[in-house]
Amino acid sequence: MSGYNVSALRAQFPILKNEVHGEPLVYLDNAATSQKPQVVLDASRNYYELLNSNIHRGTHYLAQQATAAHEQARDTVAAHLHAGSREEVIFTSGTTDGINLVASILGYSGRIGPGDTILISNLEHHSNTVPWQLLCERSGASLEVIPVHEDGTLDLDSFHRLLGDHQDTLKLVALTHISNAFGTVLPLETVIKSSHEAGALVLIDGAQAVPHLVMDLEALDVDFYVFSGHKAYAPTGIGVLYGKRALLESLPPWRGGGEMIKKVSYEGTTYNELPYKFEAGTPNIEGAIALATALGFLNDLGLEEVHEHEHALIEHAAGTLSGIEGVRLYGPHDRIGSLSFNVEGIHHYDLGTLLDKMGVAVRTGHHCCQPLMARFGITGTLRASFACFNDEGDVQRLAQAVEKAVAMLR
Ligand code: ALA
Repeated sequence: MSGYNVSALRAQFPILKNEVHGEPLVYLDNAATSQKPQVVLDASRNYYELLNSNIHRGTHYLAQQATAAHEQARDTVAAHLHAGSREEVIFTSGTTDGINLVASILGYSGRIGPGDTILISNLEHHSNTVPWQLLCERSGASLEVIPVHEDGTLDLDSFHRLLGDHQDTLKLVALTHISNAFGTVLPLETVIKSSHEAGALVLIDGAQAVPHLVMDLEALDVDFYVFSGHKAYAPTGIGVLYGKRALLESLPPWRGGGEMIKKVSYEGTTYNELPYKFEAGTPNIEGAIALATALGFLNDLGLEEVHEHEHALIEHAAGTLSGIEGVRLYGPHDRIGSLSFNVEGIHHYDLGTLLDKMGVAVRTGHHCCQPLMARFGITGTLRASFACFNDEGDVQRLAQAVEKAVAMLR
């Protein structure tokens, strides 16, 4: 592909120079966490070497520099997401934290209460299932699930039927943007429009989308969007909750303490403005700065080019693997990021263990999607998940390793 120099790109990821079990590493577990380029590693290190200080508090030089860098990171994230304003970007510890935050404030505020309905899909990660189950248990709301077709796509007819069935009680539709297990991309425009017409808010779990797609959250018209930094080339422990400003302003804080206060007295405490209202305690300052660096790295590469590159690899991998006897692929042809498969008569864990011995890192198991695995009558899959630095050599090594392992296990 013109302009996309994957060899030069690979050289920016120090971990790829390592061997695993005496074999050069093939890293295909990016949906679990991506590897980090040198520029992100440098950003983390530079923060601690040059800026380390607590933010929003000190009058001293370092505190001011650290605060400026942290708030500059927020501006970078807001611009990357095409958010309406920086106030709509709340730093969290990750996707799970963001979803729990939203579940908590919707519950505390009474926006979701007894008799209300929350709609999720059968594709959801446990992190976009269990917080809603907890909210339902505590509030008396109930959870409904949109089924998926055999090819792992959302059953839109059932979605529309569920909207109609629950039109008087539906308060929230919470869906993934891209399935972490199968790589299915959800038709968000349709889903968001119809959900809004039904009077529901929409939360989208973007953990698997942000590393792969250009974001325009204003155009998407989504109410809440959450993602993690660590799947998008940034460190663990940093994530983002985007929320529409007026909505966030209308909702109460979650955790108390630190930057979320305006004035504290025993008679009554007042809360800070957005975005700080939802950021209690000392935040992950280095993580936010490194996340901004990671998004800059992705933008320099060009997300459209990244997507095109990864798409070619995943198509090639799907084609090659499906030529191996007994292989069953899951998910639709136009999957993004993740490719899930099983081999008839062989347990995914056994196959994954042998792949690891050959230097090929994939994830095995239920991928935190037990209800989805149950739907397909399986306990798990092998999942190869792709990033900007993967190349044709990785696809060949994956296919060779699967062929060899299958021959050993049969
Ligand atoms: N959510 C991560 C995954 O899908 C951990 O692997």
